[in-house]
Amino acid sequence: MSVRRLAAAEVQPTGFAFSNDNAAWAQDFITHYPDGRQQSAVIPLLMRAQEQEGWVTKAAIETIADMLGMPYIRALEVATFYTQFQLKPVGTKAHVQVCGTTPCMLRGAGDLIEVCKSKIHHDQFHLNDDGTLSWEEVECLGACVNAPMVMIFKDTYEDLTPERLAEIIDVFEAGQGAQVPVGPQNGRWGSIAKDKQTALLDEQAVVDANNDRKAKAAAAAVAPTEADTPPSQAAKPDTSAIETNAAVKSPSPEKVAPGQETGSKDVAPAYDKKAADKADPRVEGGDKDRERPTAQPGDADVKSPELHKGATVSANEKKPLDENKRPESAPSPEGKTVGNTGPEAGAPETEGEE
Ligand code: FES
Repeated sequence: MSVRRLAAAEVQPTGFAFSNDNAAWAQDFITHYPDGRQQSAVIPLLMRAQEQEGWVTKAAIETIADMLGMPYIRALEVATFYTQFQLKPVGTKAHVQVCGTTPCMLRGAGDLIEVCKSKIHHDQFHLNDDGTLSWEEVECLGACVNAPMVMIFKDTYEDLTPERLAEIIDVFEAGQGAQVPVGPQNGRWGSIAKDKQTALLDEQAVVDANNDRKAKAAAAAVAPTEADTPPSQAAKPDTSAIETNAAVKSPSPEKVAPGQETGSKDVAPAYDKKAADKADPRVEGGDKDRERPTAQPGDADVKSPELHKGATVSANEKKPLDENKRPESAPSPEGKTVGNTGPEAGAPETEGEE
């Protein structure tokens, strides 16, 4: 799938109009839709414009959008979405759509594409020198049982060989395309076995089986009465369960006299502080309430986590007590001094800085 864009401006015609017949058809077709739904006719009108012009032009898209009272962008979205609409000029005598999906590819679609490349143009969506032929690879066209196949305009040509496709292209180029029989090109009818019929050989047996089927259908046509058919229980709740039983009223209609109420007389257990203190702190919300040691005035040296790592400070003063008490520096293997990373004595204190 490639990006689908409108053809270049230089190949776009300046205007578009339906022929008289097509215009009458279009006006009638639009009336098939309910009031307010006329825009649904955009696909058949675009297809009719393509059949008239050979491809869908920008002028045709805008003309049809005007006819249906819809914004140009809405009609443009439709035309560019569906690959059935050709957005560039195609061959005037044939546009060959080669199915390239798996069944056809397994049966030789690659060889058919080579024929198109050699007889029409190396690249798809390009016209041949005379402008009469073009080709493209498309997704499954629904005739997989007779793969490989191509579609030209509205007809399919199936059970193809490269040689047969080359002949067909020549006939179309000569303007004699209507003479090519559509469908299988190897002589078989429909999709029966190629050489001979291998199924449904006994015609009488087929007739008998068909009659038997009709008889059974007629017997079944005696429609059961409504009384014969129990109502379906599908998707209905199981009302035998107490929770879904509609017979169970909630809240209970039974009222209890205030004097008989006992719930309000229940006494809550007394608060036991000792037992509560022993409780695992995790039960009461983690360790956030645990007590931490608090430095008191006059205490000996205390490590202050708020200050520089490794510095010993007084409990009353958040600054180093004695430079001599700082840990010894140790040379690193590279010879650099590590540790003792606190500020030099006398340097301005930057509390909280690490
Ligand atoms: S895969 Fe070719 S018609 Fe379906």
